[in-house]
Amino acid sequence: MCYKTAMTTLTISKAGALKNKPAIKDLGFGKYFTDHMFLLNYTEGQGWHSPRITPYEPLMIEPGASVLHYGQALFEGMKSFRQINGDTVLFRPEFNAKRLQDGAERLCMEAPPTEMMLHGIRELVKVDQDWVPANQGASLYIRPTLIGTESFLGVRPSSEYLFFAICSPVASYYAEGADPIRIWVEDTYVRAARGGLGATKAGANYAASLKAALVAKKKGYAQVLWQDVTHKFIEEVGTMNVFFVFDDEIVTPALNGSILPGGVRDCVITLLKHFGLKITERELSMNEVVESHKTGRLKEVFGTGTAAVISPVGELASPQFNLKINNGERGPVATRLYDEITGIQYGEKPDLFNWVQKI
Ligand SMILES: Cc1ncc(COP(=O)(O)O)c(C=O)c1O
Repeated sequence: MCYKTAMTTLTISKAGALKNKPAIKDLGFGKYFTDHMFLLNYTEGQGWHSPRITPYEPLMIEPGASVLHYGQALFEGMKSFRQINGDTVLFRPEFNAKRLQDGAERLCMEAPPTEMMLHGIRELVKVDQDWVPANQGASLYIRPTLIGTESFLGVRPSSEYLFFAICSPVASYYAEGADPIRIWVEDTYVRAARGGLGATKAGANYAASLKAALVAKKKGYAQVLWQDVTHKFIEEVGTMNVFFVFDDEIVTPALNGSILPGGVRDCVITLLKHFGLKITERELSMNEVVESHKTGRLKEVFGTGTAAVISPVGELASPQFNLKINNGERGPVATRLYDEITGIQYGEKPDLFNWVQKI
């Protein structure tokens, strides 16, 4: 009994010396890490145990650890905000916990129970709370991660896992800030196929995406628009879900098993319904987008994601076409959504849907 309590009670070992905090203007995205991290282990037959907050430091895993060979790796991305009244909050942490658990099921991994995971994350943000930026547009990005750690060779699920969360103070995800980005419509590579891992935040999906993103970047585009394996139907944009504003309808591709079910996508659908606008989740072909651009029906395109919140798209290009969207400017729907979501995150607008949790 005593043993069980000791193994499931969170222990906190604080860093001896704290790091210097970077100036807000230098933050960028994902360049700096805070002083501490949260860790939790899984062992078959024992379950999840040893929750602990330690100084941010290198991990010790064996070279035979299954994550290094068979890629059992999943991560999440969530944010903590400093609200205008000084409160520190988390934005929809249960959504991220559930998505990690769903991904773990697909990758045959064990995932920590929600409360064990979120208790550790809340305590971590408390310990590192001086790192939560007070400036609008900046936040503390939290990266929960799950890896298989059993040391063996042979393709099968690991019997041991490590869950850890690290934090990084961040500003804007794109160099463009809140300005519209240019997107390359990918016609060679694919990110994910139905039946694969596309609906999870498996590290493998990001490995699959790097080549196309690099080629697009060399051409001067911020990210790629992924299509399905037939290169006909739109899936998502780089690290964002994507929305198209036509005259009387806003469309986002329906979740089909190869698209990541985004948290901000979910917020945007809720808000658009709340605004009384028509939002449809359905199959959408690039052909329909090109045609609606020709006829003037296409008014706005924007991406949604935790890192960038709402990112307007000013241009969609491929060898076959170059579509300028809304004169390359941020449109009214993207602006309204950005203001609403960030208003709720920073405590300037009422939290109508209970998305914010005070730490
Ligand atoms: C591939 C991909 N699609 C969509 C998203 C948007 O998801 P969320 O809104 O939960 O951040 C992300 C970012 O997490 C992503 O990496």
